[in-house]
Order: sequence, then structure tokens, then C-alpha cells
Amino acid sequence: FSVLVLNGPNLNLLGTRQPEVYGSTTLAMVERACAAHGAALGLDVTCLQSNHEGALIDAIHAAKGVHAGIVLNAGAYTHTSIALMDAIASVELPVIEVHLSNIHAREAFRHTSYIAPVALGQICGFGAQGYNLALDALKKHLSEVPP
Ligand code: DQA
Repeated sequence: FSVLVLNGPNLNLLGTRQPEVYGSTTLAMVERACAAHGAALGLDVTCLQSNHEGALIDAIHAAKGVHAGIVLNAGAYTHTSIALMDAIASVELPVIEVHLSNIHAREAFRHTSYIAPVALGQICGFGAQGYNLALDALKKHLSEVPP
């Protein structure tokens, strides 16, 4: 299976951005780990990051017919973007929502996710390991559902 790992706004700054919240692992390290872990699972991983809501929507649209599923950390757009939610609902691809931090243990405005209602599930609070956990879950899901 081909899988897209999509990261949203400010995640390009991982490693230096509030390391006490998000850890010291850089986005390049996260993406390399996703490629390696994906390969071990037999997944072909493509990684993409954008700070722009429309570019993330375009990437979700373009994933249809190309990728079997998406691991998505939409950053702060998680809490604001009905447009991203609609894009996910439109392409009917399995999406696993990831957050490095435990959004439910943080400010109230981070407790709401527009991604969660259209995602297979949500993984948060486990730092960069969350991406690997999401790839595990996506692999299992894709192996179980008929094509
Ligand atoms: C985040 C959590 C969001 O609330 C925040 O806006 C981010 C990162 C996370 O990975 O923990 O940018 O998605």
C-alpha cells in the first residue's frame, strides 16, 4: 500500500518549536522514521508538509487514487478547519489523525477536532512515536478492508 503522511502548519519547525511540548525530533527525522517504519510494514510512504490550508486540501484531493490512506497531523487547522474535514469526507480515504501532544490535556480550544469525526481514529500524546503507531493502525486497517 501507498500511504501519505501529511503534516500541517508550523510542523516544519519541529525540533526547535516549543521542544518542551513537541519534543526535539525534527520533521526530517519524523519523515525518515515514517519511511523506515512504513517500509518494515510493507507500506510505501510519501511525506508532505504545508503551512497552507488550501495546499493541504489539494494534497488530500490528489491522494485519491494514488494513496490507500493518510496519516494526518493538521496542526492548528485541526481545531478550525471545516474545509479540511470536508476534504477528508469527500475523498473517502482512511485517515488517521495524529498529534504529538495530548491535545485533550491542553487548552480548551485544542480539545475540539474537526478531523476526528471523519478520521478512523486519533492518536495523540505520544510524541513522534504517534506517527509509527498511526502507520501500524493504517496497515492493519488496509489489510482487513476489501479493496
Ligand atoms: C499539534 C497540536 C495542535 O494543537 C497544534 O496547533 C500543533 C501541533 C500536535 O502535533 O500536537 O500545531 O497538532
